[in-house]
Order: sequence, then structure tokens, then C-alpha cells
Amino acid sequence: MAVTLADRGAFTWSEWAAALGARLAASPDEGYWPSWLATLETLAAGKRLVGADELAHRRDAWDRAARATPHGEPIVLGAELRHGRDLHTHDHHTAGGRMTTLHEGYFSRGLEADPVLAAAIDGELARQRDGIELIASENIVSKAVLAAQGSVLTNKTVEGFAYHRYYGGAEFADVIEALAIERACALFGSRFANVQPHSGSNANAGVFLGLLKLGDTILSMNTAAGGHISHGHPATLTGRDYRIVAYGVARDSERIDLDAVRDLAREHRPKLIVAGGSAYPRAIDFAGLKAIATEVGALFMVDMAHFAGLVATKLHPDPFPHADVVTTTTYKSLRGARGGMVLWNDAALSDRINYGIFPGVQGSVMMHAVAGKAACLGEALRPEFVAYNRAVLANAQALAAALQDAGFRLVSGGTDTGLMLADTAVRGVTGDVAAKALEKAGLAVNKNLLPFDPRPPEAPSGLRLSSNAGTARGFEPDDFTAIGGFIARVLADPADAAALAAVRADVLALCRAHPIY
Ligand SMILES: Cc1ncc(COP(=O)(O)O)c(C=O)c1O
Repeated sequence: MAVTLADRGAFTWSEWAAALGARLAASPDEGYWPSWLATLETLAAGKRLVGADELAHRRDAWDRAARATPHGEPIVLGAELRHGRDLHTHDHHTAGGRMTTLHEGYFSRGLEADPVLAAAIDGELARQRDGIELIASENIVSKAVLAAQGSVLTNKTVEGFAYHRYYGGAEFADVIEALAIERACALFGSRFANVQPHSGSNANAGVFLGLLKLGDTILSMNTAAGGHISHGHPATLTGRDYRIVAYGVARDSERIDLDAVRDLAREHRPKLIVAGGSAYPRAIDFAGLKAIATEVGALFMVDMAHFAGLVATKLHPDPFPHADVVTTTTYKSLRGARGGMVLWNDAALSDRINYGIFPGVQGSVMMHAVAGKAACLGEALRPEFVAYNRAVLANAQALAAALQDAGFRLVSGGTDTGLMLADTAVRGVTGDVAAKALEKAGLAVNKNLLPFDPRPPEAPSGLRLSSNAGTARGFEPDDFTAIGGFIARVLADPADAAALAAVRADVLALCRAHPIY
């Protein structure tokens, strides 16, 4: 039997459901299928038919039902309803004689149930296994973090804060969020933490919303000098909602010039000064910036996303006690779950920050991500995390030296963190060309504007690189020296396919010697 509705339009889902419900109630022994078909036939026989809108809203439920006809026959819906796609029957199964609303294996099968998606995820695993990751905003997490993020916490919706929820059934969610907070505070020596931000940008936006009024002035680092867009770039809400004044770096040293920041602060009287960025390779003088903030009556915020791991392990100056509030992502230098976090010490700021995050910029909590944060923060409290961060620094120095030996200029002459900016234009290769060629050779990097870059963002003068992810898979300084050599070989002639293939083989060999997952 095939029921074709193409020439009839559609009946409403609620109409169908009501009719089916009534029929099932009248003859419960009939089971699901006869009722469903009879109802469908009755309605399709030319009763009150409506347009596609409502049906489209119910497409998921409709698909489940329509795919599962017991006769194995297709139900063909009109092209205008299905965007030209016919529905075919397959996957049908019954439970105790009644059709279930779930497909077979819903609770028991993994990604093998979706081969197209599985193939793409497998491809990504192979890419990560067989390529060298040098992108500074990435890292390689432990199996425990993966497990926590892929756990049943995915199913739990909570709003509010640990032990103060709007929904029930939150007892384990409460334990997990409280654990993540406790570990964050222990790791960074702060009194308070909010682990809910879905991302670093949300952490920053929530803090701004909680601490500032619309139109207040923020003094933050220019993105062209390494600042992050969430600190007030005009393309973001933060850039629209606040008055942004940007500071840069000194032309000669390519480092933050405190005198210039002080002059801007005196002139513009910001309510908040922000330090930290996504492409600044040097340690920041937190005490110096705090003194400026105090002088002009501003709060001081540090976004330590790129060096949080080093702060946690005391291998980098600590933003506390200078900063009033500290934000970070948890997936870069912290080597953990996706998302963000806020830390602070002054109880008077707690409500403003917490409510700035929720309900200010977010709704319910991504509890699976919070579980992942708890896992990575637990790992970061282990002594091995200190060893990891020492290795991040040693490896960064090895890579920096290898790049300089090969004739590339490093912005500011080097790095104090795992992150560095290499000027490739000095060797005649722009960042976009360099990044593409390196990708072909199995090295993932990102093109980046350099301070005072005369070139446009699409084809900037350099690359941003980091030792974070490579260190996580066990690369040592010799390996990073070799990686610097790979980069030099590729950039000697980015169009030389044979050279790229040769480097690709060397990259593969190095990766195979340090397997992941
Ligand atoms: C310093 C800094 N803050 C915030 C962010 C934003 O993080 P997200 O992409 O998770 O919003 C980044 C991202 O790279 C960053 O470098």
C-alpha cells in the first residue's frame, strides 16, 4: 500500500494525533499500526487538509512514524511537503507487538548507527592522530575529559547555581558543578568561581554585563596587537554595548607600553581595564596595569585563556591578587573541556558576576561540559600537570629557536608562554600561503596579523603557533626543533609538491612515534 498525499496537501499533526488517540482508546487491543494506518487513510481520504507549515514543525515525529510502516511500503508525501524527498520505509521494529517510537539500537548502539557521521568523526580522529597541531587555541584532552563530556550529563537540564536550581533531579549535577568550582578555586587560589560559561566569549560577555552599565568605557587590547574580539571588537555585542578604547603595543618592542595605557586611561576614564589576548606572546605586567586601573577608578580583568595552565602551575606571573576578576577558556592551555570560567575573590562581586553569566548571557547549564571541566581541573591539580607545563615552555623555546635559526622573525623576539607569532613575510611568504602549504604537509597552524601589519587580515604577514597540543602528545624539545625544520622546509617553497610530500612523511613518522587515543 502506498498513500500519496502529493495531490491532497496535508492534514494537521494535532488532528492526526487526536484521531489516533481516540481510536487507540476505543480499541486498545488493536495495537498501534492498524490504528495508525486507519487514521491516516481516513484523514487522507480528503478531509480537512492544511498547508505544510505545521507538518514541517513536526517533521521529526512524522519521520519516525512514517518510516516505520509495518508493511514495508513507502508513504510518499508531496514534494512540497518533503522538499522533493520521498520517505521510504526501513528500520521498522516492534516492541511487544506495538511499534516503539524509537529506532532499533537507540539506547544500545553508538555512532555505527550513523555511518555518515561516524566516517566524518573517524576522519577527524585520523587527522588528529597523523598531524601536528600547532594552533594555539587547541589541545588534546584525556580520555577522562572525553568521557565526561560525552556522558549522560548531556541529558540533564539545570538552571541556576549548584544547590539552588529551578529544576528537580539536580542532585548529581549539583555535586559535579560544586566539584568543578572547588577544584577551580583550589587550582587558582581564588575564593569564587563560575564554571558555567559555554565559551570564553560568554565568560567575558557575562562579566561585562554583570560589572558594567550599557555604554560604560572599557580599555582593552586592540585585536590588531593580539587582543581577543570578545574584548570589544565592533563586530561583537561587546563592541556595540560598551564604549571601547583600545591599547596596542609599542612599535619597537612589540610589547604592551604601560605609559601609553596610562595615558589612555587618564584620558578616557574606563570603568574596566582588560588584559590578555589571543596573540600576545609575552608575560603581562599585571601589577602595573592594576596600578593604572586603581588610579582611574576602574576594575581590572585578566583573560588568561592562553596561559591559564602556566598560571595554575606557577610558571607564569599570577593575575591574582592584582585582578578583580579573571576569565579563561578551559580547552586551550588548561588542556580540558570546551567552555569558559570566571574567577574572583571579592564577595561583593559574586552576584553581579554570577547573574551576568546566568541569566545575563546564558540559559541552562551545559552540564556535560561542566563535568568535563571538573575532570580537567582535577587533572590540572596533579603533579603531572606541572611537568606538562614545564615541557610546554621548554618546547616553545625549542620551536622559537628553530624558527629564528631558519630566518623567521618572532614578534617581540620570542615568547614567555607556549604561544608565539612568526613573521613569515620576511621570508617572502604571507601567512595565508604559509598556513595552506603547512596544512598539506600535516602541520596545522593559523595565519595571523602581526602588530602594525601592513597586510590585510586575509593575507597577513605571519603565523601564530603554540607548543600546547604537541606537548600533550609527548613531543620533546628535539621534536619541536625538528618541527621548526619542517616549517622551514615547507616555507622555502610552498609550491614545491615533492618537498611538501617529503615533510608530510616526516610529520607522519613523528606522530606515529607519539600516538594519541
Ligand atoms: C584570550 C581569549 N579569550 C577568549 C577567547 C574566546 O573563547 P571562545 O572561542 O571559547 O569563545 C579566546 C579564543 O581563542 C581567547 O584567545
